[in-house]
Amino acid sequence: MAPHWQSYALDDAAGMTLFIALSEIREKLDPSLQFDFVCRAGICGSCAMLVNGRPALACRTLTANLADSFTLAPLPVFELIGDLSVNTGKWMRGMSERLQTWLHPLDAQPDLTRLEARMAPELAEQIYELDRCIECGCCVAACGTAQMHEDFVGAVALNKIARFRLDPRDGRSDEDFYDLIGDDDGVFGCMTLLGCHDVCPKQLPLQTQIAFLRRKMVALALK
Ligand code: SF4
Ligand code: F3S
Ligand code: FES
Repeated sequence: MAPHWQSYALDDAAGMTLFIALSEIREKLDPSLQFDFVCRAGICGSCAMLVNGRPALACRTLTANLADSFTLAPLPVFELIGDLSVNTGKWMRGMSERLQTWLHPLDAQPDLTRLEARMAPELAEQIYELDRCIECGCCVAACGTAQMHEDFVGAVALNKIARFRLDPRDGRSDEDFYDLIGDDDGVFGCMTLLGCHDVCPKQLPLQTQIAFLRRKMVALALK
């Protein structure tokens, strides 16, 4: 079926979120309507969609904060499943496998009888801050580069690289990270459009992290 807009009319209610509104639409008006929700609490990242053209979490968006009439659309960039449902999981998995966004332990065969080395609380806090990403895809959908350039890794990936780079338990060097993101698909493809930073529902410091990574990677490129 060709893409088209579909209008629904509902009565607003106190405390109504887009999750409640969409559930009501599916229950009373259109059982075929497709959208994704799991946690309803801004934790799972599955309910991101365009609300009046801007990426947002539907479960955290109150209808009271929208005008009487508003539009919802699926996130761009990701594979469309149907209606408001997109396959962010497939994209995130591909990105994760490509950039190996998991801990590569310094010691491949750690002595499990010994306690892990202590980490300074400030550093643990910095890592935790970046680990709050819920992989909702809002930053990717808001990025003009990601929309034009299919292989661009997106702010979500750059944030993950920044997170593992900080982690003293990760054995990868800056050169290893450079191999992963030191090109136009990575940090040098970012045009500092900052849509990512503006829409991240977890208010992650994406602007600072990307700028920091870029400075580090430029320094390596000039070596
Ligand atoms: Fe969502 Fe923010 Fe993570 Fe991007 S960085 S996927 S916007 S939580
Ligand atoms: Fe895109 Fe964010 Fe860079 S919007 S271009 S990743 S600053
Ligand atoms: Fe989980 Fe919205 S349903 S973040």
